[in-house]
Parts: sequence; structure tokens; C-alpha cells
Amino acid sequence: MTTVAPDGTAATDTQQPDPLPPLAITIGGLKGGIGKTTSAVFLAAALAADGPTLAIDADPQSQSLYDWTQVAIGRGDPLPYDVIPWATNDLATKVRGLRDRYKHLIIDVGGETSAMFRQATCVAPELLIPCRPHPIELRRIPATLASAQEVQQLTGVEVYPRVLLVAVNPTAGDEAVAREFLATEGIPTMDSRVRVGVGYVRAFGHHPGPALGDYTSVLEELRTEVAG
Ligand SMILES: Nc1ncnc2c1ncn2[C@@H]1O[C@H](COP(=O)(O)OP(=O)(O)OP(=O)(O)O)[C@@H](O)[C@H]1O
Ligand SMILES: [Mg+2]
Repeated sequence: MTTVAPDGTAATDTQQPDPLPPLAITIGGLKGGIGKTTSAVFLAAALAADGPTLAIDADPQSQSLYDWTQVAIGRGDPLPYDVIPWATNDLATKVRGLRDRYKHLIIDVGGETSAMFRQATCVAPELLIPCRPHPIELRRIPATLASAQEVQQLTGVEVYPRVLLVAVNPTAGDEAVAREFLATEGIPTMDSRVRVGVGYVRAFGHHPGPALGDYTSVLEELRTEVAG
């Protein structure tokens, strides 16, 4: 079967990939509008194809993940994983109570100074920080990393942060500049990136289905890193 990926290219479904290791991912970052919810929805779709997946909307400001879910349900196209809006200060306790029912966990969280960020990273320590390759966004990342380190010091839970460059225009040249900045600052960054594409924008309120665009390689990279 051939479907259209969010970047507009044809995406041919291939055979079932190998099973994933259980993944517990926090998608966070200080700045708003950086692609957290979009990344959460696309990655959750990929995780749900592998095993039972719980997605939590822990962003008290926008609750867009929950909104996305409600719109999808309203269209008769529900998302194939559970979504709970839990922007509460006892998020970690609540998640621990449910964790054994799900193979994968993904938490869409707000600003990195919030209690929610700390709660989320305690139970979902693979921290993905989406970021456009723009200086104004890149400069906020060290604060997010400092917050992750604080969680580690306070709780003993090891947090694994990674920047994911999103909405990248491959012809603009700013990806290379961004990668140079990130490397100079010693900030862990994924090799894969998500290109800019209207498909990601138009996906709102839909289940992305098997055509996950660049998120397929994001998940592959996560699989390799977590398994290794
Ligand atoms: N790869 C992409 N290409 C083009 N647009 C994108 C891409 N990823 C996300 N967007 C768009 O960027 C905007 C912000 O994305 P999103 O809502 O996922 O960010 P967010 O960090 O969750 O925002 P908020 O802080 O408001 O919750 C949306 O309009 C979304 O459709
Ligand atoms: Mg959001």
C-alpha cells in the first residue's frame, strides 16, 4: 500500500518492523509552539503500532494533545492509543499507577521550570526536546537541560535528553548552523530531523496512520539508542 507522508513524499508501507524496547518519552521544552504536541502525536502513533501506548497531555497551558484527540474522536477517527489530560502535580504517582498496563508511555509537557516537567521526566526519562533550527529557540535549550539535570540530582532518576530539530527547511542552511551551535555547546542532538511540511500541520485532529514522515527515522534512532 502506498500512502502520502506529511512531507508530501510517497510512503510505502513495508513489512512489520522489529519490536521496540519499552519506551517512556517526555516531550518538553521551555518555548511554546516548538512542535511538542505534533511530535507526541506522530511518535505515539508509531509506538501504538508496536504495543499498548499511553499518551498524557501534561501541558496545563494548551492541552492541544487532548484537543487533537477529541477532534479525532468527533470525526470518527479515534487515535489508537489512550490519551489522558493529566496536568497535575501528582502526575508521576498517577502514571506509576497505570504504567504496567502499557508498553510505551509518552508525555507532552509544558515549560521546563514547571513542576510538571519534573514529574514527567521522573517517569518518562527519555527526554525529547523539539526545536526549530532558529537561534531564538536554540538559546532556550540549556535551561531545559539544566532542569533535567536538577531532576536527576533530586530524584536519582537518570534523564536522557536529546534535541530533535523540527520544521527544518533542508535548503535554507540553518540546520547546519544549528547543529554547529548544539555541538559547540555539547548538547545531545538526534541525527534524524523532521523537515518542514504542511502534512504535519494538516494532521491536526487525525490519526497520522502509517505515513509518519520523518518521525519513522526519529523512532528508529531512539530504538537503536535505547536498545544499545
Ligand atoms: N515539521 C513541521 N512542519 C511544519 N509545521 C510544523 C511542524 N511541526 C509542527 N508544526 C506546526 O507548528 C505549530 C506548533 O506545533 P505544536 O502545536 O506541535 O507545538 P507545541 O510545542 O506543542 O506548542 P504549544 O506550546 O502551544 O503546546 C503548529 O501549527 C504545528 O502544526
Ligand atoms: Mg502543545
